[in-house]
Amino acid sequence: MASAWWKSSIGYMIYPESFKDSNGDGIGDLGGIISKLDYLHDLGVDLLWIGPLFDSPMDDNGYDVRDYGKINPLYGTMDDLKRLFSEAHARNMRVLLDFPINHTSDEHPWFQKALSDPSSKERGYYYFKKGKGENLPPNNWAGFFSTSAWEKAGEEYYLHIFTKKMPDLNWENPELRKEIYDIARFYLELGCDGFRLDAVTHLAKDLSFEDSEMKPDPNGLVLDTSKFSNRPRLYDYLSEFREEVFSHYDCLVVGEAGGCISPEESLKLVEKPGAPLNMVFNFDTVWNNGNFDSIKKKDEEIFTDVFALRRNFMRWYEVLNGKADMPLYWCNHDHPRVVSQYGSVAYRNESAKMLFLTLLFLYGTPFIYNGEEIGMSNANYGSLGDFKSDRGTMNSVEAYKKEGYDEETILHYLNRTSRVNARTPMQWDRSENVGFGSKPAINKVNPNYLEGVNVYDEMCDPYSILNFYQYAIALRKNPAYADAVEYGRLSYVDPNHPDVFSYLHEGGTKLMVISNFRPYTVYFTFYYEMKDVLLHNYDGVLLKDHVITLRPFESFLLVVR
Ligand code: GLC
Ligand code: CA
Repeated sequence: MASAWWKSSIGYMIYPESFKDSNGDGIGDLGGIISKLDYLHDLGVDLLWIGPLFDSPMDDNGYDVRDYGKINPLYGTMDDLKRLFSEAHARNMRVLLDFPINHTSDEHPWFQKALSDPSSKERGYYYFKKGKGENLPPNNWAGFFSTSAWEKAGEEYYLHIFTKKMPDLNWENPELRKEIYDIARFYLELGCDGFRLDAVTHLAKDLSFEDSEMKPDPNGLVLDTSKFSNRPRLYDYLSEFREEVFSHYDCLVVGEAGGCISPEESLKLVEKPGAPLNMVFNFDTVWNNGNFDSIKKKDEEIFTDVFALRRNFMRWYEVLNGKADMPLYWCNHDHPRVVSQYGSVAYRNESAKMLFLTLLFLYGTPFIYNGEEIGMSNANYGSLGDFKSDRGTMNSVEAYKKEGYDEETILHYLNRTSRVNARTPMQWDRSENVGFGSKPAINKVNPNYLEGVNVYDEMCDPYSILNFYQYAIALRKNPAYADAVEYGRLSYVDPNHPDVFSYLHEGGTKLMVISNFRPYTVYFTFYYEMKDVLLHNYDGVLLKDHVITLRPFESFLLVVR
């Protein structure tokens, strides 16, 4: 079977509102993205995943869709989108649309109709249930954004596992499913190359709607993801979607698989040939440093667990290798910046390069998150209000205040963990508005653009993170090495090393990666012969008597014998 085109693609996620503004209103847009296609092409990426572009009241920054048939006027028009497709295709780049199908906005006409007319067919597009009693929701489920998963509307409650302005769609309803298929077909006909299906593992719910048996929090609520994640009906819904729509196009469909999906469960969704999706984003390698839900912890307690990282990458590789494709990524718009997470701002240059090299040559299709290629780091904001663009973050602030945390502690915690850290404006140059095109209206700029963390300065510096990315991508795409990565057997070297992540691809060319994850010197025993050093983030190799001295975040890509 011919290998799918995405196996050798390099993905890149664009968060539209913070990428580039073309019309001076302070908000990134389609014109801005189009103006940066040459930049992206030069970088070597060829598969763009663009955050949601549909019309939205922006309660969850576009993941709350009001009208799937219309482009968010903040971002442009349908013609701009068509222009993006053709300009991207002219550069041999493909475009995935971010498609939220687990929920709509409460301002979507379907939901409005469902509210105003309880006997309408649209009422059946959502989950409406009677409460348990006076002012008691139907059950004890909490949603992802620190509230009950239910909101009262008239006599009944509706389900929303994200914000209350994002009612969940009822995928059990065949008419609703057909509506979604029509939308997908429309965009595939328009020229998109596939979708990132948002929150897709949550489509099927426990339709008994019984209470969770897990221990409730002080408000009597439980975030029990098993009630709405990876349930058996999910496979049926997505198989139908494939049969009705995806199977008729040469498209890539990537699902966002939250809710602790296991590699084994994921195989059902992605095993070739014929599974409903082509790959799923899992979350297993994102928080391997104890930083998630860590408000009680001191900074010193946040420490990258190299064992866990290795185990999690390998778990997925072992199950999927040869049977299914998978994406690789360090972070996206839902996480803190990876340099702040697993690297070090003090060693920005070394750690950003090390992290990219380590990820890029693992098995899978790598996805870069915008700004990662210049080493952008967490926001370092000065007040809680600076995080106001994200409802999820602000809901958590309220919850922490109720639990008695003071503002300073919460602020410190948000600067370490909030996803707003990833949503600060892309830093294009060292001018006052970082080359964004206007004064950014949504999130404040990170002042480190003046310390060289911007595209222009990095283009001028041959040893920059940006130039390293470009060079590394070119190597990853070189067929001699691409074959080793895609087909060579992957194994770990010294799999019990507490600080060093090292792996080897067997095959015609033996490729080896050695990466120090620490901000200090460590030692690594080495019994191979170095035939070639393809990539390295330091000068000179400190090798003596089969021991490599690895400086802070030092990393190599080697051809060995
Ligand atoms: C996904 C998105 C996230 C959004 C959520 C609800 O997890 O990546 O940004 O808040 O879905 O749509
Ligand atoms: Ca704009």
